[in-house]
Parts: sequence; structure tokens; C-alpha cells
Amino acid sequence: MPVDPRTSIINERLVGIRRIIAVSSGKGGVGKSMVATTLALTLAHNGCKVGLFDLDFTGPSTHIILDVQNLTLKEEKGIVPPTIYGLEYMSLVYFVGENPTPLRGEDVSNALIELLVVTRWGALDFLVIDMPPGIGDVILDLVRLIKRIEFLIVTTPSLLAFETVKKQVNLLRELKMPIIGIIENMKMDVTESIEVETGKLGLKYLGEIPYDPKVECAIGDEAELLSTAVAKKLRQVAKGLLLVEKRER
Ligand SMILES: Nc1ncnc2c1ncn2[C@@H]1O[C@H](COP(=O)(O)OP(=O)(O)O)[C@@H](O)[C@H]1O
Ligand SMILES: [Mg+2]
Repeated sequence: MPVDPRTSIINERLVGIRRIIAVSSGKGGVGKSMVATTLALTLAHNGCKVGLFDLDFTGPSTHIILDVQNLTLKEEKGIVPPTIYGLEYMSLVYFVGENPTPLRGEDVSNALIELLVVTRWGALDFLVIDMPPGIGDVILDLVRLIKRIEFLIVTTPSLLAFETVKKQVNLLRELKMPIIGIIENMKMDVTESIEVETGKLGLKYLGEIPYDPKVECAIGDEAELLSTAVAKKLRQVAKGLLLVEKRER
């Protein structure tokens, strides 16, 4: 297969980033955006340089969680991501706006490539990507274009959600992509089925995040976001990621 010349431009853009973590799931509504945003904020609070990249073509929402308003992008041989709450922040919402823009497969690929080519990330310890649900074009394109992505998978306690996660795991394994583990969000009882099922897949169970009614009120407020049950759990996850960092240095 001929090498796509854009691949080298994209990887040049990402060269200053130590780790790229895609927060993904088979389903929507499981908390990917909340987990991605809170994880990024948590890592930044730990003193890391962090970027957050919203690539959910089905409904970007991290800008709502962070209450990003009226930002104009700075163009300088590409686009320098604005800094929001200490995060280098980029979202496709800057390009598609709030209007419904149904994109077909090839348009999604082109928009994704364009975003990756124009965005000038600084030197980052972590780039957290908020992914669209499922196993569509974005995941396939990203994996093709950027070889070194690690996946952090979010599920709810529902076995229906987990069933779609299994499909995603199978795909990622076929593509030989590393999976950090599975986190169970919006837990409301004490069942262990997801932990057991995660074990059967041979993956790391990163723990559970309880359903926390405070989450909805925390939207748009950094301090509140960092005080939810989501943040509490993700502080532990972040610690784990930072330990790996230390060992590798
Ligand atoms: N642990 C939680 N407790 C309560 N509400 C949550 C929790 N995690 C996420 N939510 C809420 O659930 C909804 C879906 O979360 P979101 O992050 O948008 O999911 P996704 O990105 O997977 O579609 C949002 O309204 C979010 O605020
Ligand atoms: Mg989302």
C-alpha cells in the first residue's frame, strides 16, 4: 500500500506529545466526554502538560463541559490550540459549529485529516482524545494515521453497553492497538459483572465511577468538575498513568 504523505505531516505535528490516550466506547451516552474532560483536567492538576482533542463527529460536547465560549482560533502556520483551564484545547466544533452537519464517510476522513494536519500542539505529556462512539471511520482513520494511540474504554454497568465494548476491543486487538483498560461509569449497585467480563477479555478493570447527581451541575465549572465522583476515580487512574510514565523515563 502506498504511504499516505499526510501521515508523515500528521506525525510531525504530534512529535512533541509523549502519550496519546483515546477515550472511547462502543456506545454513546456512557460518559466518554465527561471522563475525557475530567481526566485531562486531573492530569493538568498533577502538573502535566495536557491537550484535549474533541473528535466526536456524532456530537462534540467537551466545549460544553468546559464552557468554552466565543473563542477565535489563532492561525500561525496552522492553528495553535487555545488554552482553557490550563488545557490545550481543540475541537471539531470550531470547524463544524453548532449546526447539524451530517458528514459521509469520506468527508469525515477528510475533516479528520485536515484537523490533524492544521493543529499545532505544543510539547505535551498527554493528549486526551474524546472519541465518537463505536467502530466507525474516525477510529479506523486515527489508528491508520497515528500508530501510537492507547485506548481507555468506558462502559456503563449495562451488559448491552459492554457487548458493544467487546466489539470495539476485538477490533482494537485486530489492529494491534494497546488498551489501557476498561472503566465502569454510572454504577448504581454492587454487581461485579463488568469486572468479571473485563477479566474474561484479559483486560485491566480500572474500577467503577458511581452515578453522581453532582456531575450535571458541575458542567462549565472547573472546580466543581474536579470535585465529582468522576474526578475522584480518575485521580487514581491518572496516578497509574503517571507511575508508568515515571518507570519509562
Ligand atoms: N458518573 C456520572 N454520574 C452522573 N452523570 C454522569 C456521570 N458520567 C456522565 N454523566 C452524564 O451522563 C451524560 C452522558 O455523558 P457523556 O460524557 O456526554 O457521554 P458520551 O460522551 O459517552 O456520549 C451527560 O449528561 C453527563 O453529564
Ligand atoms: Mg461524548
